[in-house]
Amino acid sequence: MRRFTTVLALGFALVGQSALADEFTRADVDRYQKAFETVAADGRALWTSGALGTNGVACAQCHPNAANTHPETYPKFQKQLGRVAQLFEMVNWCIRNPLQGANLAADDPKMTALLSYITFERRGVKLSPGAH
Ligand code: HEC
Repeated sequence: MRRFTTVLALGFALVGQSALADEFTRADVDRYQKAFETVAADGRALWTSGALGTNGVACAQCHPNAANTHPETYPKFQKQLGRVAQLFEMVNWCIRNPLQGANLAADDPKMTALLSYITFERRGVKLSPGAH
């Protein structure tokens, strides 16, 4: 995550003071980045904890380092749901099924943490909504 911060900070520096300086100070960008990193780290902790369901199973057992979650393909048709779905709906599908737990609301801070972690792991991957 530290490396990502550096790259992002450098990116903002290179894009030019003129375009961004009016809206964000360097301190703002550092603060926003830190906030994101904290939430993504919370997501990783949940991912590996077994605390999201009732049977002690953790997401990481089947998706180590968020493997095979394919956030870049959402929204897409998901056969488990029989319709075009968003990423959080498949997170909930796995909470209900392999973890035997209860849905999280889309805006639950735990859901935000999980989605932050999943998408952070897949940073840089090209978006391909709908792809299989
Ligand atoms: C027992 C194994 C298992 C566990 C534990 C598990 N999953 Fe899954 N997960 C699956 C299977 C099987 C699929 C369906 C594969 C597919 O549709 O490609 C899936 C699909 C997904 C997808 C969609 C993947 C895609 O390619 O579109 C996401 C996102 C996901 N899981 C997140 C989670 C999260 C979050 C947790 C923990 C709350 C979790 N999974 C726990 C087995 C598991």
